[in-house]
Amino acid sequence: MKFGHFDDENREYVITTPKTPYPWINYLGSENFFSLISHQAAGYCFYRDARLRRLLRFRYNNVPADMGGRYFYLRDSGDAWTPTFMPMKKELDFYECRHGMGYTKITGERNGLRATATFFVPLGSTAEVCEFKVENRSDAAKKVELFSFVEFCLWNALDDSTNFQRNLSTGEVEIGNGGSTLYHKTEYRERRDHFSFFHVNRPVAGFDTDRETFVGLYNGLHEPQVVLGGECRNSVASGWSPIGAHQLTMNLAAGESQTQIFVVGYVQNPVAEKWEKQGVINKTRADALTAKFNTPQQVAEALAALAAHWDSLLSNYQVSSSDDRLDRMVNIWNQYQCMVTFHMSRSASFFESGIGRGMGFRDSNQDLLGVVHMIPERARERILDIAATQRADGSAYHQYQPLTKRGNDEVGSGFNDDPLWLISGVSAYMKETGDDAILDVHVPFDHNVEKGGSLLEHLRRSFGHVLQNLGPHGLPLIGRADWNDCLNLNCFSEKPDESFQTTQNQSGRTAESVMIAGMFVAIGPDLVQILRSRGHEEEAKTAEQHIANMRVAIDTHGRDKDWFLRAYDYFGTKIGSSENKNGQIFIESQGWCIMGGQGFNDGFALRALDSVKERLNTKYGIVLQDPPYAEYHKELGEISSYPPGYKENAGIFCHNNPWIVIAETMLGRGDQAFKYWSQICPAYLEEISEVHRTEPYVYSQMIAGKAAVRHGEAKNSWLTGTAAWNFVAITQHILGVRPDIGGLRVEPCLPSDLKQVSVRRRCRGAMFDIDVQNGPGTQWSLEVNGKAINGLVVPFAAKGETVKVTARRV
Ligand code: GLC
Ligand code: GLC
Repeated sequence: MKFGHFDDENREYVITTPKTPYPWINYLGSENFFSLISHQAAGYCFYRDARLRRLLRFRYNNVPADMGGRYFYLRDSGDAWTPTFMPMKKELDFYECRHGMGYTKITGERNGLRATATFFVPLGSTAEVCEFKVENRSDAAKKVELFSFVEFCLWNALDDSTNFQRNLSTGEVEIGNGGSTLYHKTEYRERRDHFSFFHVNRPVAGFDTDRETFVGLYNGLHEPQVVLGGECRNSVASGWSPIGAHQLTMNLAAGESQTQIFVVGYVQNPVAEKWEKQGVINKTRADALTAKFNTPQQVAEALAALAAHWDSLLSNYQVSSSDDRLDRMVNIWNQYQCMVTFHMSRSASFFESGIGRGMGFRDSNQDLLGVVHMIPERARERILDIAATQRADGSAYHQYQPLTKRGNDEVGSGFNDDPLWLISGVSAYMKETGDDAILDVHVPFDHNVEKGGSLLEHLRRSFGHVLQNLGPHGLPLIGRADWNDCLNLNCFSEKPDESFQTTQNQSGRTAESVMIAGMFVAIGPDLVQILRSRGHEEEAKTAEQHIANMRVAIDTHGRDKDWFLRAYDYFGTKIGSSENKNGQIFIESQGWCIMGGQGFNDGFALRALDSVKERLNTKYGIVLQDPPYAEYHKELGEISSYPPGYKENAGIFCHNNPWIVIAETMLGRGDQAFKYWSQICPAYLEEISEVHRTEPYVYSQMIAGKAAVRHGEAKNSWLTGTAAWNFVAITQHILGVRPDIGGLRVEPCLPSDLKQVSVRRRCRGAMFDIDVQNGPGTQWSLEVNGKAINGLVVPFAAKGETVKVTARRV
């Protein structure tokens, strides 16, 4: 069942009923100020850090769901209702939510009164703007009262939801412009240099800033006493819960409309300029901010600038084919999601509370893969931030805090895949940009400037870290975990509430990861190439020898009969083997060993992929392993803590599915690759939204596996490495266009029913216009500007140039 449809021309998903199977959200903002907004306008906004600088309050896991956001109540001849459906839930004659690129537009109509709210965060601003239009579509005059409502978060979201003995007494506000601007200034009197405000560009009939006064102590947001009574009470909050609410009165003739602009803004003042006079905040900067969005003309211009921004970002990779789902994922939604994961990492979504994890070392390196073609300068900055959290021995802090950019001591290090991801991130960046100078940038180790080295030195240490940590079979030691955070082979936890990853590390030197071995042979050659390009021939040769040794170790100790093993545990027992009772075959090592080129000579790669198909694939995606662990195993850790079929215990953990897609393309099996890609691709799941439940325009982290009670149901949408990896799989391997040494490689691996596709790919400032003619053969041949070339690499071209490429397979 569908709950809306794609509007590709406007790059929107149009939700046509408020009763979606889960709140379907969007993100606003792309610099320092961000908002999360559901199709019913629930959510919150924050400045840079969702935990420390949260502006609006939102209640996670609330009853009812999707509660707390920016609400607009309309009162039309005594009939009070909300055009976003929630919170009042009055039946609407018309409802529509358009989630677009950085904006969300929600329309509701009842009894001939239509309201349209357009929310966005203008470029260069620290504000969420809402243009709110009220239209009398009936044939009689109407007197309408409009009440706005937001609830302020007292900045620190964790404290805000726990430390009530303090924070119910700290709340402070100021009223300005006769109530049109409501300032939230909790803690501004002491150490904060920032405040927020809720503003409307019209005179108001009244306002409220005290929640209890506006809502009523025993009322819910679906029945605020002020709205039901029809009149604001001009309350000034003192402690408790500060809110912002305006009342506007409008007399609308038939056919008449009125537009007002609301702004939730964030302002920072230099300490010396905090006050206008004692106890009164200096509002100069707030006034300057609201002055920018005072007229519909200004709003229209800001929206146009936002659209142009997205035009330019998305234009770097565009495909045109006979499959509109493929086109809209590549051209619009997959790239959009990659940008969101780049900004948010794993911090703030409707599943991630914004108070938990920092930026992951491996997560952030992988997120780069999906955005480097759009924002290379910011990718560069991110690489240097990440590298500065690496430690001198090559290991890495598993997470770092975005505000301080320091490694997180609580989580620490010891995830032995982490260092290798840095090589893959840097290599992707260098292939995209040709910026070889980044290798010479001096980057600290563990933020200690005295202990730094060139970025190239960091990459060497990453590679070296694997070599210094080899186990009894010559395979890499896993440490606390590898990519699979839940395969914890050195932590035997028996007490509830302990961390599976960081408690009681056995620090054994036995448990080995075949997945890291696969990564080493897949990613290691990138370092070899970098070393060679720098003239370090001897070192490159030595590295090649290490890679060759690892290949032998995988062939000798990393294979089961028909697939690659996953690991050896603390006792040296195989994991991911037909000898095991549960967890006989895992997805990760099949993906990485084959991406690393293992098993091509003797048909083993083919056999392993056939095993994946037979043992792991389902109609909703490939499960992580099979059979699921039926009981908890302390020697395996968190993986066995989940009920069968969920999360890492044999869920469809979407992030790793594209590794198999890529592996299939390496064997030239385009039909199978495309099938795997499309079976978890949200646009292809739109028709079964009642099963899938999360947004049909973005990937989710996990879809319940075949052993789960709720097979096919997704969770944790938006913030997942799935976005970047699927973008890599479809654009670089199935469509087959990717930057390489010396040029753009064009080597598609298409399904047989896609006969022709066109790709426009901008790289290093030149545009490559690629016409792909698929045929039954096995060999591709290329023509560049009408002339046949040898090989599959189209040389880079000068900035501004357009290069015509034809790729034919006959
Ligand atoms: C809070 C603290 C308590 C302290 C009191 C007065 O209640 O929990 O320890 O004595 O404030 O400052
Ligand atoms: C989560 C983590 C990621 C990890 C994955 C698998 O998505 O953010 O780092 O690789 O789970 O455990």
